[in-house]
Amino acid sequence: MAEPGYTVLARKYRPMKFADLVGQPHVVKALSNAITTNRVAQAFLFTGSRGTGKTSSARILASALNCMERKSDGFEPCGKCASCLDIARSEDLDVVEMDAASNSRVDDVRERLESVDTRPARGRFRIFIIDEVHMLSTSAFNALLKTIEEPPPHVKFILATTNPEKIPETILSRCQRYDFRRVTLGEIVAWLEDICRKEKIAPQDGVLRAVAELAEGGMRDALGRVDQLLAFSGLKPGLEDAERVFGLVGRGKLLELLNALSQGDARAGILFAEDVFDSGKDVAEVLASMVSLARTLLLVAASADTRAIDVPDNELAGLKATADAYGIHGLVYLAELLTDCRQRVRRAAFPRVVVETTLVKLSMVGRLEPLDRLLARLDEVADAPVSVERLESPSAKVAEPQQESKPAQNATTKESGEKHRSPKEQQALDALKRQFGAS
Ligand SMILES: Nc1ncnc2c1ncn2[C@@H]1O[C@H](COP(=O)(O)OP(=O)(O)OP(=O)(O)O)[C@@H](O)[C@H]1O
Ligand SMILES: [Mg+2]
Ligand SMILES: [Zn+2]
Repeated sequence: MAEPGYTVLARKYRPMKFADLVGQPHVVKALSNAITTNRVAQAFLFTGSRGTGKTSSARILASALNCMERKSDGFEPCGKCASCLDIARSEDLDVVEMDAASNSRVDDVRERLESVDTRPARGRFRIFIIDEVHMLSTSAFNALLKTIEEPPPHVKFILATTNPEKIPETILSRCQRYDFRRVTLGEIVAWLEDICRKEKIAPQDGVLRAVAELAEGGMRDALGRVDQLLAFSGLKPGLEDAERVFGLVGRGKLLELLNALSQGDARAGILFAEDVFDSGKDVAEVLASMVSLARTLLLVAASADTRAIDVPDNELAGLKATADAYGIHGLVYLAELLTDCRQRVRRAAFPRVVVETTLVKLSMVGRLEPLDRLLARLDEVADAPVSVERLESPSAKVAEPQQESKPAQNATTKESGEKHRSPKEQQALDALKRQFGAS
């Protein structure tokens, strides 16, 4: 448990100005331009996945609009004036914050909007922030619509949601919309490193990356996991701590598994599944790590410049060897199969079977021949001199009665379009069929 008085990192490190917002440069640019040129819309909609900065940005925008110290050519709130401080504490009279998740009824909306016509007490604007706005009832949306259609000039609306598709078109069409994107792995890692420095946390190599991978672009999730890890292991968390706390399997082990599977070792797959399920690991997260590893392998295989790939130098050689063992075709198949497995596991009555069959299938990847090699072989066969065997085969005679005297240039008859294949051609085609049959 956290000690009394401990502020979780996600609260302690809430962005207070635009410059603090990580990974949303398009939002920052548009909003800051609007502020400096005095062309601020009357209603905004901030959308995007969990923990990417929507609520924080709503408060930053409100602070910037009402900041008492902001210069006319600047866009950042000062963070120190009475208005900025009150907004940060959610105590400002001019900024009405409403959480639609717990206030979804029409009466809740009416009550909050009662004061729209009142002039702002201190700032330039009265600002209504409606968080999780998709939770409003239909009649609550209608009540909101009335005001949002023609708000008094001193009023601004900022709506935030993870589910824009649940918002009526009538509301959407009156808002300027900003989509917050998932933050990239590199950006999350850099940001976590910065916070760790400030907090005197010294995680071992790879820990922050593992945390960032699990967060899947959500900044709050990333910080929440750092908190969880600190509670378990103190200020110097190691990779093994992270694996224990989050029920993960480390990358080294996953690579070992993939190497065994590339050798056709189906048993390794079954044993791995047994370990994951019997030791109570989090199957979804193990699969998430595998998908992420498959992606890294694809990048390693596909790019000439490995500096651009975000992996530690000491792991690169191992990754390259595994990537080579699969080949680019095998890796595409690997990534697809794992992604599919991850989705199916969520709904499956018997997730273990889904994982086992996927791993056994993967153990057959090594035997797939790359398509280009198969095609090259077909070409070879097509270019080869026509064999006596083919000309003399009874089917060739039946199919090409008038052309008996002429040696066939290729193996396709005019009448039927059917192919007569040499054993070599047949072999190559069978291999192709196996490949596509298998995937
Ligand atoms: N873009 C970001 N840059 C820096 N920190 C962020 C960012 N997004 C989220 N955070 C961190 O996550 C915490 C929560 O962010 P915020 O409440 O703004 O997210 P949200 O998008 O509103 O999430 P939700 O969808 O759950 O409402 C912040 O206090 C901060 O620590
Ligand atoms: Mg929010
Ligand atoms: Zn201020």
